[in-house]
Amino acid sequence: MSALGGAVVTGAGQGLGREIALRLARRGYAVHVTDRDLRLAKETVDLAGERAWASALDVRDYEGCRTAAEQAVERAGRLDLWVNNAGILITGPMWDRPMDVWEQVLEVNAIGTLHGVGAALEQMRPTKRGHIVNIASLAGLSAVPGEAVYAASKHAVVGLSGSTLADLRRAGLKDIHISVICPDGMWTPMLYDRLEEDEAAMSFSGTLLQPSQVADLVERVVDKPRPITSAPSWRGGLARVGSASPAFALAALPAVHKMGRVQQRRLAKKLNRTG
Ligand SMILES: NC(=O)c1ccc[n+]([C@@H]2O[C@H](COP(=O)([O-])OP(=O)(O)OC[C@H]3O[C@@H](n4cnc5c(N)ncnc54)[C@H](O)[C@@H]3O)[C@@H](O)[C@H]2O)c1
Repeated sequence: MSALGGAVVTGAGQGLGREIALRLARRGYAVHVTDRDLRLAKETVDLAGERAWASALDVRDYEGCRTAAEQAVERAGRLDLWVNNAGILITGPMWDRPMDVWEQVLEVNAIGTLHGVGAALEQMRPTKRGHIVNIASLAGLSAVPGEAVYAASKHAVVGLSGSTLADLRRAGLKDIHISVICPDGMWTPMLYDRLEEDEAAMSFSGTLLQPSQVADLVERVVDKPRPITSAPSWRGGLARVGSASPAFALAALPAVHKMGRVQQRRLAKKLNRTG
């Protein structure tokens, strides 16, 4: 058995998930690269090298998540790390979207993460060690006009993570960790087609991150588990202030949204010039 065991990454076919899978492979983990799109997962494996392998996994399928964890144990001897990264973004006021869309966002982002946590803990609790990294969002810490259903799903991820971590400690399991990362808007395929979309403006209202910057933070918590990390930290601080003081947030959010629109237009112009 190698020093580093198995790692499972969900939604690892593109964007942040691919970047995380590549970093973990470089570190020596045997990486189970999973995505609902097997073709994309295989492309990631082609870049990750021989210790990585690909599977189709839709995180809405709990049995599929359990099998993914079992396979990592079979291949690598144990499951060291599970990264719940798969996610989808639907924008617009909730009343403008049908119920099946609300459910889809919650099923992938919130229940999908529950499935990942459940599958990972099934392997980690008997060995009393392991680490789960959940990719939430700043939308998990504050109100986000235009992204309400998404924000609901990411608040669920943050709540689940901190509460389960506390339950693990209560159960005496001090070597199983849960770290949550809450990134600001990030330039990945999730946002590529949203430069004209007013409802997505909040994703552009801060400093647009590159997936490599968020993957740096994932590597940092892999080395040193941390219950919650915002990126960038100043926006996380603002989100927390807004959440502690909802009247202040309500007054400030229209200006923040406007700023997002300005930055969307700036980026669109820049891309038109260079592209
Ligand atoms: N891009 C952003 O602005 C941003 C900001 C904060 C947080 N996040 C979060 O980061 C994570 C990664 O997002 P990204 O920006 O790389 O998005 P992305 O759309 O570029 O990639 C998401 C990946 O997840 C996969 N996926 C979608 N639904 C799935 C399902 N049901 N089961 C398994 N795989 C599924 C997709 O096939 C895709 O490969 C998500 O959880 C997202 O919510 C993104």
